[in-house]
Amino acid sequence: MMERALAYVRTLFEKDSSGHDFAHTLRVYKLAVRIAEQEGADIHIVSLAAILHDADDRKLFPETAKTKAHAVSFMRQEHLDEDTIARVVHIIDQVSFKGTDTEIPDTMEGKCVQDADRLDAIGAIGIARAFAYGGAHGRLLYDPDDAPLAEMDYEMYRNHKSATLNHFYEKLFLLKGMMNTETARAMAEERDRYMHGFVERFLQEWDGLS
Ligand code: ADP
Ligand code: NI
Repeated sequence: MMERALAYVRTLFEKDSSGHDFAHTLRVYKLAVRIAEQEGADIHIVSLAAILHDADDRKLFPETAKTKAHAVSFMRQEHLDEDTIARVVHIIDQVSFKGTDTEIPDTMEGKCVQDADRLDAIGAIGIARAFAYGGAHGRLLYDPDDAPLAEMDYEMYRNHKSATLNHFYEKLFLLKGMMNTETARAMAEERDRYMHGFVERFLQEWDGLS
């Protein structure tokens, strides 16, 4: 079934180049399963929720974001029971980053998927995704006159447009401290260190210092 789920979301994301591509889903799926194994969570639920977590993302699919119509239609097609469908939809609702309005999932399975999604936003992959997103949205790499904002709520986070380097201070450096599970926290430490090294070096090169 997971193979079919992957094939289904691949068709949904075919045209995206803004960081919500199919490869992101595949990485989140692998990370989520790895975390779930360590944390003793339900692998079946975690797998489904991870694979379907962006299938109704409000940036890509505003028309199905509320109802989760894509995720639900896939699960109905697979004849999953309504309880399972509801559990997966609940997790998908809770995982996404909403600035200071971000929710802590109330299930271990949700915690695993949220951690996996966040891990994929940091480290080397996270750096690449941030600049890909910035490029897709016409943002500058960096603007020394534009200071990062702290503590944005969901609307501010969504409507805020600034240079990509600010995104590290506004979101990416915060994610390490927001991990729900020990497994993800340990992985986040390493990814976070790598990103800090990158930003430090970026700023040095910006000023022609190294
Ligand atoms: P989520 O899917 O968790 O809601 P987003 O849609 O906010 O996450 O982000 C998708 C990817 O794009 C992530 O890697 C994120 O860090 C990146 N991204 C989001 N907003 C920005 C931004 N303003 N500048 C650079 N990268 C961004
Ligand atoms: Ni995601």
